[in-house]
Amino acid sequence: MKKVLVTGGAGFIGSHTCVELAAAGFEPIIVDDLRNSEERAIDGIARIVGRKPAVHRIDCCDEAAMERMFQGEGPIHGAIHFAADKAVGESVADPLKYYHNNIGSLVLLLRLMKKHEVNRIVFSSSCTVYGQPERLPVTETAPDRNAMSPYGFTKIACEQMLRDTTASDPPLKAVLLRYFNPVGAHPSALIGELPLGVPNNLVPFVTQTAAGLRKQLTVFGNDYDTPDGSCIRDYIHVVDLAKAHVRALQWMEDGPVSCDVFNIGTGKGNSVFEVINAFKEATSTPLPYVVGPRRAGDTTAVYADTTKSRDVLGWTPALTLNDALRDAWRWQLALKP
Ligand code: NAD
Ligand code: WQD
Repeated sequence: MKKVLVTGGAGFIGSHTCVELAAAGFEPIIVDDLRNSEERAIDGIARIVGRKPAVHRIDCCDEAAMERMFQGEGPIHGAIHFAADKAVGESVADPLKYYHNNIGSLVLLLRLMKKHEVNRIVFSSSCTVYGQPERLPVTETAPDRNAMSPYGFTKIACEQMLRDTTASDPPLKAVLLRYFNPVGAHPSALIGELPLGVPNNLVPFVTQTAAGLRKQLTVFGNDYDTPDGSCIRDYIHVVDLAKAHVRALQWMEDGPVSCDVFNIGTGKGNSVFEVINAFKEATSTPLPYVVGPRRAGDTTAVYADTTKSRDVLGWTPALTLNDALRDAWRWQLALKP
């Protein structure tokens, strides 16, 4: 079986990707020190795929530990680099944490990949690189907005690092996936998102509120220039997103391009009020909410043009927003003590 290194493989998107890798006949090798995840994600993967994946509990920025891991594993087919810090607000307060972990981990990974002749990498980028796009749906050629946050800047810097290294080192191939808003959970309810403390993101806040853990959801603003006044995002089911990584690895096996970038979203924008209504419809569960002020830094509307990921990468999402909300709710119920 072809080994695929999955940094951050115990995290939200990484754990779902390990499941899809195993289903496609790859052997995921997880590198994660569980700084933002839990052992139960690894147990969940094992229960879904029927065997425990290899796990290295090490810091991706620890050169000696990473070198030992590469030596111990032997030939590796490719890497998927999820490991990063991802809280936009925290990155404004502590930018060096983000520069160190998000950029430092990729520098080290690329150096060790070259040394150990691993020539394929899939990188977790984000729609945050677009800021508020001038035209919607946003295509991959839209300009980067590097001033949005230090977190966003780390994604732009890492994308550039991959363009530069693939240009200077021809055997190396890279696929940069710009995720829109990943939501949902595995339909088995054995893996899902594990937000620490009060969730920043909409869907975990919705499910925790419906479960009675939070009093009410606050809709951050109803005075935006959108049909119902609330912000619009492109919510992509995490299982569809996970499959895009498998497709990207397969595409690099025969693709002639050395480095390319793809939007990974549904292509459809949904407002916050539409998410609230879809949640009620998908789960038949009440959801108390109030309308509050805008949240600083939010963009009005972002959703993907998915033409390139469909026509070039050969990936299309199969699941709906209602599927994602149903699965997120099942996961929330499974988390209850
Ligand atoms: P997550 O926090 O659930 O997963 C990241 C994993 O990486 C965690 O398990 C954490 O323990 C691990 N990790 C972080 N730094 C590490 C290090 N130095 N050494 C070892 N392990 C380390 O996050 P996620 O939502 O699964 O996101 C995965 C990737 O996707 C990140 O790069 C993130 O920036 C990107 N992304 C996420 C979203 C989103 O909304 N979730 C959107 C766009 C892009
Ligand atoms: C979605 C919508 C909120 C919570 C973030 C990062 C982005 C990317 C994805 C990593 C917005 C509204 C939210 C709540 C609300 N991550 N909302 N009440 O902000 O689109 O993107 O995650 O790369 O970089 O910024 O996602 O889930 O926080 O918000 O009304 O309690 O829900 O205003 O319109 P966001 P989100």
